[in-house]
Amino acid sequence: VVRTIDWDGEAVVIVDQTLLPADEVLLRLREVDELAEAIRSLRVRGAMALGVAGGLGIALAATRAKERGDDPEAACRAAGATLAATRPTAVNLGRGIDLVLDALALGHDAVVAAAVDLLAADVEANRTIGRRGAALVAELAGRHDDLRLMTHCNAGGLAGVEWGTALGVVRAAHEDRMLAEVFSCETRPLLQGARLTAWELERMGVPYRVLTDSAGPVLVTSGRVDAVVVGADRIAANGDTANKVGTFSHALAAHRAGVPFLVAAPEMTIDATTPTGADIPIEERAEDEVLTLAGHRTAPPGARAWNPAFDVTPADLITAIVTERRVIRLDRGERPVS
Ligand code: MRU
Repeated sequence: VVRTIDWDGEAVVIVDQTLLPADEVLLRLREVDELAEAIRSLRVRGAMALGVAGGLGIALAATRAKERGDDPEAACRAAGATLAATRPTAVNLGRGIDLVLDALALGHDAVVAAAVDLLAADVEANRTIGRRGAALVAELAGRHDDLRLMTHCNAGGLAGVEWGTALGVVRAAHEDRMLAEVFSCETRPLLQGARLTAWELERMGVPYRVLTDSAGPVLVTSGRVDAVVVGADRIAANGDTANKVGTFSHALAAHRAGVPFLVAAPEMTIDATTPTGADIPIEERAEDEVLTLAGHRTAPPGARAWNPAFDVTPADLITAIVTERRVIRLDRGERPVS
């Protein structure tokens, strides 16, 4: 198991995910601006990892302020504003920042302790989600072996600290010898599925195949998978769920085919202050991400692109949301916030 993000006592240490799977490089980030750049460029990414990064970013600001004799309150609040502005969709980022800012009045050591606590809490929550999700998949499929799952993007250890949500379900099911195969959608344009999920599945020793995003719906409707399991960047109070763009089309297909569509996410991802999916801010990223492939321009020089990083799957297409505390059966009318 890889530690995607960590605190070494003075700095934030991350695996640079832009270089995977070719190179496994650790980056040591000592300044808040370096961390903000790493978040913007997806060196560190995935909702849970962003929550932890936000919290550790405040610890970073407090630690540098102490060394430099700066006002810790001003430094931490400025860091919070900088980090919160990096990516808008994953609610975990702001949550991680706020949780650690809450410790400001207690001093530097309390700030660092609050940030470090996020690391262990994420691992713990994800393990529970994984076990609960695997049990639910087996229950819905009506058997405990030969299960085939499809996932989209990367909701693995790389999207958290070390375990993962959707891939936590896969990991738990694999440990219990329930899995036949996992299908990982490649996840255009940045290929989190083909690069990161495939890398994790290979390390786990899980049989897997990568497919294009557009092949996902036909995989699902042709009876080749028992369930679709994805993560989430923000879950609205009514259960509408923002996740990596492309998730919505898989959910539509699953709904039509009667295949369970599961969202695996920590409670922290549920945003009671966001009533519905229409209220979730969706990040739009640079056009170049769509118009180029591996650094080479693929579209004509005059082409423009629309590049939303996420889409919203309506609650009525989701069978259940699995968190570390509960299973919310949306198909039975339950909602995250009632
Ligand atoms: O743009 P990314 O790579 O940060 O998007 C990540 C996803 O959409 C994941 O599927 C999501 O964060 C769920 S995993 C925590």
